[in-house]
Amino acid sequence: MCGIVGYIGNNFAKKVLINGLSNLEYRGYDSAGISLINNNSIHTLKTKGRVKDLIQLSNIDKIDGYCGIAHTRWATHGEPSDKNAHPHNNQNNTFSVVHNGIIENYNELKDFLISKNYKFISETDTEVIPNLIDYYYKEGNDFLHSVYNACKHFKGSYAICVISSFCPDKIIVARKSSPLVLGKGINENFIGSDIPALLEYAKYFYFIKDNEFAEVFKDNIIFYDKDLNKIEKNYKEISIDSSDITKNGYDDYMLKEIYEQPKSINNTLNNLNFETLDFTKEYLNNLKKIYIVACGTAMHAGLVARTLIENLCKINVEVDLASEFRYRNPIIDNHTLAIFISQSGETADTIAALELAKSYGAKTIAVTNVPESSITRIADKVLYTSAGPEIAVASTKAYTSQVALMSYFSIYLAELLDSNNNSLLEELKEDLKNIHDKISKILNSTNLQIKDIAKKIYNEKDIYYIGRGLDYCVALEGALKLKEISYIHAESYASGELKHGAIALIENGTTVVSIVTNPSLIEKSISNIQEVISRGAKTIIITNQHIDNDSFNYIIEIPKTNEYLSPILSVIPLQLLAYHVAKFKNLDVDKPRNLAKSVTVE
Ligand code: AGP
Repeated sequence: MCGIVGYIGNNFAKKVLINGLSNLEYRGYDSAGISLINNNSIHTLKTKGRVKDLIQLSNIDKIDGYCGIAHTRWATHGEPSDKNAHPHNNQNNTFSVVHNGIIENYNELKDFLISKNYKFISETDTEVIPNLIDYYYKEGNDFLHSVYNACKHFKGSYAICVISSFCPDKIIVARKSSPLVLGKGINENFIGSDIPALLEYAKYFYFIKDNEFAEVFKDNIIFYDKDLNKIEKNYKEISIDSSDITKNGYDDYMLKEIYEQPKSINNTLNNLNFETLDFTKEYLNNLKKIYIVACGTAMHAGLVARTLIENLCKINVEVDLASEFRYRNPIIDNHTLAIFISQSGETADTIAALELAKSYGAKTIAVTNVPESSITRIADKVLYTSAGPEIAVASTKAYTSQVALMSYFSIYLAELLDSNNNSLLEELKEDLKNIHDKISKILNSTNLQIKDIAKKIYNEKDIYYIGRGLDYCVALEGALKLKEISYIHAESYASGELKHGAIALIENGTTVVSIVTNPSLIEKSISNIQEVISRGAKTIIITNQHIDNDSFNYIIEIPKTNEYLSPILSVIPLQLLAYHVAKFKNLDVDKPRNLAKSVTVE
């Protein structure tokens, strides 16, 4: 989603801001812009399109300064266009604002400002911000109090950076339910909507909490609480290996991240420490329910976890989409454990669902890949996947790390409960220990075969994914991967459900991808595949079972593992399939259209 960068210091700001925007490109956006202060006046340039379009604007060489703000916009209110791009300025051009989030009551505020003779040129909610700040400034408030007073009116979410031609020596920032970090330098300070934007410039970071404000000068930062009392903040050192945020020789981040999975799973499993959860057998025995709540791919990881926890621990588990959970009055009390999975730790719906569960007395755990992300500051306990930064919009290594973490978590709970299945638990632990080797084998042995298959199917309009049990959970993830980066309509169905409607869609030549890894369901799965073949389907089978290959078009073989862990392996060919199909279609696999890496608005 939208990205923010800010700079104030002894160096020229433009280069830092443009670099920062480039580092944020992975978040997904449709326009870009920059405001710089020079000679006590604000110069703003913005455009629909990419950062490369911004730096080709004819006037860009004519502006620079030591203080500036910049933005990549993912359209919510108003189409992607030059005038809707950020920064937004007040009509006198004395305040300039970049904003992430949504001001939900902007119409009401706009009407008020129009009644005071303010004029608007964009269709955005953001444009009320510089104008309301200007309104308070004209009422006699200083810059900081003008921002503070304006923020008191905003309903919704915001992370804002504001510069003013009246005070060229500072940037004011504020946030509510939208992330914002400050990078500390020497005689320079940086602002970013996430850490990767600033990693090349800073390694010490301050984290702004909800309803806090900061005045950022080149050699100082003053922090304020919600009532504008000064507060002290400590910075944290964040060190990320630069190879983690470059393509490291791969054509795309997505391919690099697919190939990083042996390492990311290993790191995740080696860094786990469930003792921090402080669980006791008594607490677990008294649990009525576990909710697992998440969005998209993270929710698919939750579906896998449900099967493991229910089977190994005999605890009732419900999995829900965060956007549904938060509005369906879920039954929660202090005998509920609620687990929220989020790669970014910034997904607005997941965070709102977490806050809801907490307010009803549930114990809450966040499972996230990003240290210091918003979710880590809200949940009672945090478990980290150590997958390393995931830059491609389509999640791959985060998913397998989430599944591996949740698998180990299920084993941990079962052990704590003395669940009497020690040999199974030992087998699962042993298999998890070796799973990275099996992933490497799949990557080495199937990539070319899958590329070949992709070449044959990349022009298809619809592709179906089917499976039973855990294989169905993987089918959901495989279909999501394909649709998000190849724009092919992909649907997943539980194989046994096909006859209840979806099989009507199968016609001569329709491609059906089947996942077949559960030995106890193999006959049933095969007969479902035969049903689609009888209706003319072309079939691609992902399997670790011995099946007669006469009737199928393609069989992709993967190594055996305990059936509970098969999703970690069977998803890999599906990730590669989606990747190669998108590449044959010449699409940008890392930044698919309309999508954002972290969805920070509802
Ligand atoms: C995954 O490929 C998607 N881009 C998307 O579904 C993602 O998993 C979802 O938005 C949740 O994100 P999160 O894990 O950062 O909360």
